[in-house]
Amino acid sequence: MPNLNINGRNMSVEAAGDTPLLWVIREQLQMTGTKFGCGAGLCGACTVHVNGEAVRSCQTAVSEVAGKKITTIEGLGAKGEHPLQKAWVAEQVPQCGYCQSGQIMQAASLLAKNTNPTKEEVVAHMDGNLCRCMTYSRIQRAIMRAASEMRTASTGTDRRNT
Ligand code: FES
Ligand code: FES
Repeated sequence: MPNLNINGRNMSVEAAGDTPLLWVIREQLQMTGTKFGCGAGLCGACTVHVNGEAVRSCQTAVSEVAGKKITTIEGLGAKGEHPLQKAWVAEQVPQCGYCQSGQIMQAASLLAKNTNPTKEEVVAHMDGNLCRCMTYSRIQRAIMRAASEMRTASTGTDRRNT
């Protein structure tokens, strides 16, 4: 019975050690914001953070993450106050929406380390998170918007634009 820390809460789950983290999150814990897409590490719909790094939860065994800090889309900003969530709304990014929680979690891992990314860095970091609705240009705009807001919040001014 692995002990997991998810979104700041310690949880004991009943699962074999090789169970994919995605199944535990969705089926046992009923946290359905994290999506199942390909199940093969190829689409990014299942992206969560483990100790701040974006990982594909369909390819991550629960035994690998016991004792580590796991964050899902539900824990990123429960009330939608994360700059990325606000930027996603402002840019009206989603179409069907299925890939979007994975996209946001992938983007959040970039902005946690770099709030001043170039467009090329954004594209490179998001490479591998697929969107069948082709919302890529809006995703990129939303990430740049969120990065700008985070810089402004930390310095009081956005130096990239001054
Ligand atoms: S469902 Fe995990 S990468 Fe596609
Ligand atoms: S919004 Fe439909 S798959 Fe991305």
